[in-house]
Amino acid sequence: MLSAVRVEVADKPLAEADAGLVAVLVFEGDDLPAELRDARGADDVRGGYRKSTLIHPESPARVAVIGLGKPEDFAPERARVAAAIAVGAADGLRAHSLAIALPDTGAGADSADAAAALVDGAILASYRFDRYRSAQSEEDGEAPGKLESLTLIGDPAAAQPAESARIAAEAANRARELQDLPSNRATPAFLAERALEIAATHDAVKVKVIERDEMAERGMGGLEAVSAGTDTPPKLIVMRIEGEGPLTALVGKAVTFDSGGISIKPAGSMHEMKMDMSGGAAVIEAMAAIAELGLPANLLALIPATENMPSGHAVKPGDIITQLNGKTVEVNNTDAEGRLILADALAYSVELGAERIVDLATLTGAVLVALGSTYAALVSNDDEWAGEVFAAAERTGELAWRLPLHDEYKQLSKGTAADLTNAAAKRKAGTIYAASFLEEFVDGRPWAHLDIAGTAWDVGREYVGKGPTGYGVRLLVDLVRSQGSS
Ligand code: BES
Ligand code: MN
Ligand code: ZN
Repeated sequence: MLSAVRVEVADKPLAEADAGLVAVLVFEGDDLPAELRDARGADDVRGGYRKSTLIHPESPARVAVIGLGKPEDFAPERARVAAAIAVGAADGLRAHSLAIALPDTGAGADSADAAAALVDGAILASYRFDRYRSAQSEEDGEAPGKLESLTLIGDPAAAQPAESARIAAEAANRARELQDLPSNRATPAFLAERALEIAATHDAVKVKVIERDEMAERGMGGLEAVSAGTDTPPKLIVMRIEGEGPLTALVGKAVTFDSGGISIKPAGSMHEMKMDMSGGAAVIEAMAAIAELGLPANLLALIPATENMPSGHAVKPGDIITQLNGKTVEVNNTDAEGRLILADALAYSVELGAERIVDLATLTGAVLVALGSTYAALVSNDDEWAGEVFAAAERTGELAWRLPLHDEYKQLSKGTAADLTNAAAKRKAGTIYAASFLEEFVDGRPWAHLDIAGTAWDVGREYVGKGPTGYGVRLLVDLVRSQGSS
């Protein structure tokens, strides 16, 4: 498991900050705090967004001054970025502890949000995946400074938002580790074990795991078809947190390796498809964080988990299957597997009484073409529910942009011999078409789909850089929290 970062808030003078590196955030045009003005290097400080200057007062020995840009442009995202830059500076100095002075964000911005965002940025930026590297000796000087503790210097009122942010950000880092783990480790059984571990730790969480035989007995033809080619047992992971209010279903695609199946992918970047379980990982760790935070919620989480492999017993292009809700599908492309397993999971959530649904899935390469790695695609049949998901995305910086549904897109998913086909003949509106296919399985319930194929990996932002991002964990936690308060 990942080691957690200790987070505390302390109201004390900078000179007394007991940390390997102290960081101060400044706005463009503002003066440095009085006690730093005479520091060596202080004249070089400008305050432009992302600008970092190391200065040397008498005490502490060194301070990283990080620019936030113009005060009127401030948003929590800038605090995430600045905190990540501070972690980078601490890393370079081999410092294991970091103190950040809470900036005075003025009347416009909420200081609790700024404190939470600093914690987000620092913890996310400190994520490492080095468990498969042979231990490096101290002398070779390569071992980076792993952040162990973070102190926010300022108003103790920030302690509670900081602690909540820590819990969600650590959960995001755990989801990132699941994303990073290769498919020979992070199997469907491994994900199921993780869910059971969460249930063992948190009384509020109940877990049930549906095995291959039971999937078939229940009529989950999509899960049965996609898992037909693999010898690794598939699992449908069912998690519950019981509470008041409408039952919300969180559904996450967990294809632990997507080779494409018989419609096999090119070799060049096939190895990247160990991350095709990112939606499921986000849902699992969001449930853990929600339980740890003790948020009041009535939640059902469904994580269909399987490999997608070619073999003598794999599903073949042209095969016709029957999904859990009775709709038939021509599997014209075995690489469009995510929608097949999600279709069953969505229909199962309806069977179990879900009153609104959000799903996360690395579903289409097309979303990378449309939105790159900056925004996930949000597709929904319900403006109000879409609005709530959108607002959570904005608040957490796990951005989403809405794409439309339209009757005309339904033409794309009409089958020739069955009700539907899983892959349209023409390469039109791939992301919307996949979402429109999913809509066939939600029985008209308010539903929001997030296509995270672009945002789950290699976003290249200061605090999530290369590799896994844990996209969706903080968004889901925020969404559930906002339900509780409305
Ligand atoms: N898992 C992929 C989508 C994906 C692409 C995820 C890039 C992450 C990065 C999905 O199962 C897939 O293969 N989709 C196909 C669908 C097509 C065959 C209709 C795609 O997008 O090419
Ligand atoms: Mn695929
Ligand atoms: Zn896939």
